[in-house]
Amino acid sequence: MSSQSTLSKKSAVAEPDVKRKRMTVPNFMARKGGEPLVCLTAYTAHVANLLDKRCDLLLVGDSLGMVIHGMPNTLGVTLEHMIMHGQGVMRGAEKSLVVVDMPFGSFEESPEIAFRNASRVIKETGCAAIKLEGGAEMAPTIRHLTRRGIPVMAHIGLMPQNMNVMGGFKVAGRDERDWQQIIQDAREVEKAGAFSVVVEGVTEPLAEKITDSIAIPTIGIGASVKCDGQILVFEDMVGLFPRVPTFVKRYGNMQEMIEGAADTYAEEVKARRFPGEDHVYTLNKKDG
Ligand code: KIV
Repeated sequence: MSSQSTLSKKSAVAEPDVKRKRMTVPNFMARKGGEPLVCLTAYTAHVANLLDKRCDLLLVGDSLGMVIHGMPNTLGVTLEHMIMHGQGVMRGAEKSLVVVDMPFGSFEESPEIAFRNASRVIKETGCAAIKLEGGAEMAPTIRHLTRRGIPVMAHIGLMPQNMNVMGGFKVAGRDERDWQQIIQDAREVEKAGAFSVVVEGVTEPLAEKITDSIAIPTIGIGASVKCDGQILVFEDMVGLFPRVPTFVKRYGNMQEMIEGAADTYAEEVKARRFPGEDHVYTLNKKDG
């Protein structure tokens, strides 16, 4: 069965996961210290479908504001954006654990508001868990959500939603005096019930200390190999976004491929070589 027909059979909200052997939160947690966890972001059904077999977790991250919607940062992303992309990813992914990010302004005000918005994300997308940025200060919210049936992935170190306070995207923990706070953040989110924690933009020795300090999987982005798993933004790793931070490795160059295809298409249209014989409907022929 082609990926296209698999996708077209799915409804707006995915069916229960029981039959599909999807990665569960407890199985994800059990990989702590074992085979590294493979995670990527995904924002559309077809990309999710392509990545699904190759990943343990797909994150519908709020980086979609930048890499899909052309925003200058993630602050303008809304709950509606996250739900719409989350629904697409759930239609495309069958086996990965799908986690949807809580956008700026949707969870910070109170644990109750966080629950209201996070439960909407779970109900309307069918995803299994949410992610939110924040360390010790978010522990009461993480506790409130996890005790009410919402698994939470935390996000510490460099937190892009904090960019106005920090004055930009700053690597965290270059100064050893900051380490204690970040390690404390990791411990507090674990104690509050987070099932995993994204560790972004920290030095290798700090990443190692965090990973060794907690019993839940650390998922690194710009945080070295000393984490229990890795995540990258899909558009960054396939060359679909112009900015290439130090921590990104490009595994492909889709920009070149798209530009090449568009150049050839434009050339063929202008030369009247497209559409050719194979792409034209004819009389008395059964074609699609
Ligand atoms: O929004 C996102 O893509 C993320 C990853 C950087 C982890 O939070």
